[in-house]
Amino acid sequence: MKTGLYLHLPFCKQKCNYCDFASFAGREFLIDGYVDALSKEAALSPVRVFETLYVGGGTPSILSAVQLQKLAQIIENHFGPISRFEESTCEANPESLTAEKAVVLKKTGFNRLSLGLQSFNDAELKMLGRVHSTMDFLRAYETARACGFENINVDLIAGLPDQTLESFLCSLERVVSLRPEHLSVYGLQIEEGTPFFERAVVCDQLLMRRMLEETHVRLKRAGYHHYEISNFALSGWEAKHNTHYWNDGDYIGLGSSAASFFRGVRYQNTPDVWEYIRRINAGESPVEFMEKLEGKARAGERLMLALRQLDGVELSERDEEMFGREMEKHIKRGLLLRMGKKVKLSFEGLFLANEVFCSFVAPFEEK
Ligand SMILES: C[S@@+](CC[C@H](N)C(=O)[O-])C[C@H]1O[C@@H](n2cnc3c(N)ncnc32)[C@H](O)[C@@H]1O
Ligand code: SF4
Repeated sequence: MKTGLYLHLPFCKQKCNYCDFASFAGREFLIDGYVDALSKEAALSPVRVFETLYVGGGTPSILSAVQLQKLAQIIENHFGPISRFEESTCEANPESLTAEKAVVLKKTGFNRLSLGLQSFNDAELKMLGRVHSTMDFLRAYETARACGFENINVDLIAGLPDQTLESFLCSLERVVSLRPEHLSVYGLQIEEGTPFFERAVVCDQLLMRRMLEETHVRLKRAGYHHYEISNFALSGWEAKHNTHYWNDGDYIGLGSSAASFFRGVRYQNTPDVWEYIRRINAGESPVEFMEKLEGKARAGERLMLALRQLDGVELSERDEEMFGREMEKHIKRGLLLRMGKKVKLSFEGLFLANEVFCSFVAPFEEK
């Protein structure tokens, strides 16, 4: 059975105004100790052979070239050469991806880079609390190409505060003109605890929807395959690691806050970086939360993940027994489409997917 490997690097130069990911600014002094802890946790992994690798964050590219080299060596020591993974992605931010680091990543075997851009407008980047400019992004993108990366993803966010449709489409068109193999386009979520939440920033949901609808049309016209709610790829460049995850595959996560799903058990490490390092060095488990998904909860999780993909999912008789009624309700509302044994999100459902997904998450009775 295929398994994915995820490594979390929880360090950022500055915390962005919208971000509630487990990442922290001003803790770069912990990186060396953290990487040593990752090595120790890797030694305990229940799996040795992985098909896909994803190094995410946080900002993995905040590591120096020497630290990245060390991280790559740790992965190789425990799990074999990175070049043997079917897909190996490293997230990188425009301000910190230097040519030296890109060369290290390429030489150590990474074959995919994911660059967080968010917007191609400097005023919007500033408002988001990003520490890079559009020029930094262009430089990082060109550097990645010059170093031989043939598979690049770019992240964009739609529905930013005060963003006009015109401004968003301008960002989208500028990215498309670079022809990255893959694009992730998210609608802005105002997450509790972020500066945007504290400032009570509100999103114009109708405008965001217009932006995302137009994204679907324009990316299709530009030759991109819309294969997951927020993900688009040139043919053949769909993300293997994430697709494995949406197909209910097992994955092992290493690092603070990293989640794993292995043999029906979901578990997650402590999000506290100090505590993670302390526990690993003391020989204690970094796991903070663990649950075994069984029965309806397990089936619901599988359906929810699969439905994120535009191809939808084929229902078994058991799925029909457990979720047939909920499925019919969403079909009547026009959020799901049924085609023989298959169901998939409708065009409308793509924008209201969370309402559909609620039906597949316990506790089921209250929903
Ligand atoms: C793991 S995160 C961060 C990756 C990288 N550190 C960066 O900032 O580019 C991956 C992506 O999730 C998206 N994202 C994060 N927070 C979001 C939010 N509140 N709403 C919408 N998209 C978000 C951003 O596009 C981001 O690039
Ligand atoms: S969006 Fe990326 S760079 Fe910004 S705080 Fe989150 S993880 Fe760090």
